[in-house]
Parts: sequence; structure tokens; C-alpha cells
Amino acid sequence: MHRHINASKNNSKMGKRIGILTAGGDCPGINAAIRGVGKTAIVSHGMEVIGISSGFSGLIHNDFELLTEDKLSGILTLGGTVLGTSREKPFKKNGMPGADKPKLIKKHYKEMGLDCLVCIGGNGTQKTAALLAEEGLNIIGIPKTIDNDVYGTDFTFGFDSAVTIATEAIDRLHTTANSHKRIMVIELMGHHAGWLTLYAGMAGGGDVILLPELGYDPKIVNRYLLDRAYKKKPYSIVVVAEGVEKPKEESSAAAYVARMIETGTRIETRTTILGYVQRGGSPSPMDRILATRFGSHAVDLIADGKYGRMVINKNGQTSSMSLKDVGGKLSLVPPKHSLINKARALDICMGDRCEL
Ligand code: F6P
Repeated sequence: MHRHINASKNNSKMGKRIGILTAGGDCPGINAAIRGVGKTAIVSHGMEVIGISSGFSGLIHNDFELLTEDKLSGILTLGGTVLGTSREKPFKKNGMPGADKPKLIKKHYKEMGLDCLVCIGGNGTQKTAALLAEEGLNIIGIPKTIDNDVYGTDFTFGFDSAVTIATEAIDRLHTTANSHKRIMVIELMGHHAGWLTLYAGMAGGGDVILLPELGYDPKIVNRYLLDRAYKKKPYSIVVVAEGVEKPKEESSAAAYVARMIETGTRIETRTTILGYVQRGGSPSPMDRILATRFGSHAVDLIADGKYGRMVINKNGQTSSMSLKDVGGKLSLVPPKHSLINKARALDICMGDRCEL
């Protein structure tokens, strides 16, 4: 996709030239963010926008193209990322002798004539973005992930869409569980965080919700499920985050928990691992709005020359924080989160304790 771009500004308004890349796991809303950055930059600030392919790999291999306004049409509702993504970590010493990737990135950033680079991605991406800012590049980070685990922001786009997808899946499990009087265990994504499992578990009417942040006691879970059976509850839904503790050799959290339950309760149990469905398809309306707000705010920061920052959503407002304060941290579910308290009030078993 390499296009030669004249390094001198070819824009009569002498607008800034900004590069955009999308890195890490994809999610619904990335294209809405690209559109938010691109249209605000072009329409409101007369800037030029360069789309870089496949995350940081595109910067290393100089693979990019001019993003004109027509290229930004029709992508608001499109899942995935039109730029492509990768999990390239240019600062990671993988022991392979080879080109100095950060040096190549700085060289190509300069050759492209960029005034700023917008990095759309999760934790790993923002960590790389912070390191590039330390190397002197003008960087703006935009947080995205279905995991909602980026430090500093209340929400990332991708999360609302994944909660919707996962909730719809859990809704469907109720009918089949009821028909067969079974326990259904569904495993959701989230990496080390339990946000997606907590929200979709509550929204989907889960009876047991297991989060990495709380841990769980098999005896408590099984006693709770047996108590439901004694009370003639026809079935149970168990929602498990992929990051919960399990033996290393276990294929999945769902398989381990399901076997633990079936062995301990003798109740027929089945598993569903929702997987990449949670990352696919068109973004929810709320994610389209959040992604657009993030993208547009990023350009406001660039226009004001405020670099080295990541856009955030705090108490419903769009603002930003220093990239330095984000890198290497995770936003995990606090054990006393209000939603956990509400779950306990509804006698939902969170795996760690329950009053029988
Ligand atoms: O970070 C998003 C995510 O979907 C996590 O929830 C999941 O653990 C991971 O990406 C999967 O990574 P990959 O796409 O590399 O298989």
C-alpha cells in the first residue's frame, strides 16, 4: 500500500500532517475512531491524514497511504480496522538480531513528514506509544479494546459492543439450559480483566459470575449450584472470564470450571467459549459515539500542540492524560465495585463467598 508522499506540505493551508495506526486486538469502533480523527482533521483543521498499515509494522516497513475524505466515507459502521492491525512490539527485545525497529520508525516518521502520530490500541499499544513519545515523536494515544482494561479511562470503545454480543449469547443459553435442565458455562474474553464478564454476566442474568480479580472457591460454587437445584431452579448459567485461575495444562477456563461443577454437583453441564465473535461486527451506537468523540478530541489536542497524551473518558467527559502515566498499568475490576455489590445483593454467586 506504499504511496510516495511529497514530504513538503502540499496543503495550501499548511495544515499539519498526521499519521494514524491501529494496533493490537481489533474491536468494533476502530473505524469510527479513524473516521473521527480523519474528518475532524481534514474538515475542521485542513490537515493531511496518512493511514499506516498493520499497526507499528507498517511504520517499520513504510507501508502507508493518504487517507482522503472519500476513503473515510462508509466506515463508521464497519467492524474491524480498514488499516489492518498487528501485535508488533518494536521495543520488545525478542533476541533476534535485526534492524533497530524504533530507529526505523523514527526515520520513516520523519520521511513521511508527520507532525504527529495517532496510535489507536490497547495497553500494549499505549505502552509503545509512550516509549515513542519519550524518543521525541509527537504522539497521541486513543484507547480501544473489548477488555475495557486500559488504565485511566472509564471506558474504551469496543467494550459496549462486546457486552452486547456476549449478553445476546447468554440470553440464548437460558432457553437451551431450561429445555435440558442443565448448567451452562460460558467463557468470555477480557484477558486479565473481568469487566466484560461482570457487565455481560449481570446483563445476561448469570447466576454465577467468576472474575479473575475475585478468584473462586469450587466448593462455594458447587454448594450454591446444588442449593439452586434443591430449590427446584430448573437450570443455572455460569459466566466465566477467560483470565480466571486454572491449571496451566487446562485448555480453557470454561472446560476446567465445567468439569469442576459436573464432578461436584453431578448435574449435566455444557460449555460455550464465545471467543472472537465478541470482537466482530458493526460497533454499537454507544461505541460509535465514544470512538467519534475520542477521534475528534485527539485532533483538538494535535491542533493545540498538546502531544504525549492519551484521550480518555472520565465521568462521561472526554479529556486526556499523560501517556507517561498510562504505560504498563491495567484497569482491573475493584473487588468492591458497585456492580459486584449489586450482584451480591441479588444473591448472584461471585465465586468467593455466598450466604446460604
Ligand atoms: O485484547 C483483546 C483480546 O480479545 C483479549 O480479550 C484476548 O485474550 C486476546 O485479545 C486474544 O488475542 P489474539 O487476538 O492475539 O488471539
